[in-house]
Amino acid sequence: MNLGFTGQALITEQVIVDAATLARIQDFFADCSAVLGHLETSILPDGPVYPMKDRTCHFAEAGHLSALKALGLSHLNLAGNHAFDLGPDGIVATLKGLAVHDLFGIGGGIDRHSACAPAIVTTPTHRLALWGRDAGPQPDVVYASDERPPLKARPGIAGLRIDRELQVDPAGARELNRISLETGHSQWSQLRAEIGYDPDPTNRRFYGTPFSVGDQCQDRYRVNATDWSELDHHLHHTDADYHAIHLHQHHWGYDWKTSPQWISDLGKSLIDMGMSIVAVTGNPRVHPIYRYRDGLILTGLGGLIFHTKREAKYDDLVWSGQLVRITVSGQLIQSINRLPIQVGGPLGSERTLKAGEVQTLSFEDLPSLE
Ligand SMILES: [Fe+2]
Repeated sequence: MNLGFTGQALITEQVIVDAATLARIQDFFADCSAVLGHLETSILPDGPVYPMKDRTCHFAEAGHLSALKALGLSHLNLAGNHAFDLGPDGIVATLKGLAVHDLFGIGGGIDRHSACAPAIVTTPTHRLALWGRDAGPQPDVVYASDERPPLKARPGIAGLRIDRELQVDPAGARELNRISLETGHSQWSQLRAEIGYDPDPTNRRFYGTPFSVGDQCQDRYRVNATDWSELDHHLHHTDADYHAIHLHQHHWGYDWKTSPQWISDLGKSLIDMGMSIVAVTGNPRVHPIYRYRDGLILTGLGGLIFHTKREAKYDDLVWSGQLVRITVSGQLIQSINRLPIQVGGPLGSERTLKAGEVQTLSFEDLPSLE
């Protein structure tokens, strides 16, 4: 079985692909049972719609999705930070737009149940489950909810939320608590906690920022326990023998040229859970592919299409992407083919989608996270 992966498609206008590039990418994905990418936009509904953002509100017309189908994609992760830019109506229109092009959305749905469900692909050798999740940070409203009469279900995306947490050393904690006492923040917080308004009173929150105390000051990333349990339960009750997940994250890190440690750690935990391939997008740069046990962690797939209006503000690394084809036999990964690409840009710019030369790697060639 061959599986294809692409980076994020941030589409706001027509996608231009020349015939030669189209043919090369189609050929690269030709024998794949599924090709999974990430859709970093929302599709315009037929009627008027409320914007959910004032800045970087991304939307496209349904017809713009045809380029993704032509390139060979079959599935798109919707769980990202632009799926909800047009709210529930945008989610519904996106699902409809995908269906028109015979594309399948994962990680987004008309309610929480459908947003969290995997797409199942049956191949001659495998029953494959494809999952989509968003790691945040985002407001709760973007995540789909189930019906709670008299409230309707809310269309939205599926979360595997990562909470960023400040850890301070004991001296740091004493100083934060001293400032809180001196300014009256501790008393303010205590009063709110007493009426059930603040979930976390007193000395573990500094002006809204939760913190923990440890040996040293540290930027920590913790998986939301509810989201983790839901995915774990769902995976082990899904009739499939191979699992892959596309995960979108907007935490990035303090060095955008490298993949932060928490992504590798999360990838390992997901493989321990039962995933075989963990593919990550978010930071629009290519980051390494690692092996761990029998699985792969693609820590940063980079871009596919990048219709940014802030081209001048990004470094050139955001224009390098990669397409990946993974050959699987049983539960073992046999080989990995990488096709470097130049990410497609906005109309009228010099940025057009171009494909380089295929590189073939064996599983053992990859750096290990064991
Ligand atoms: Fe994003």
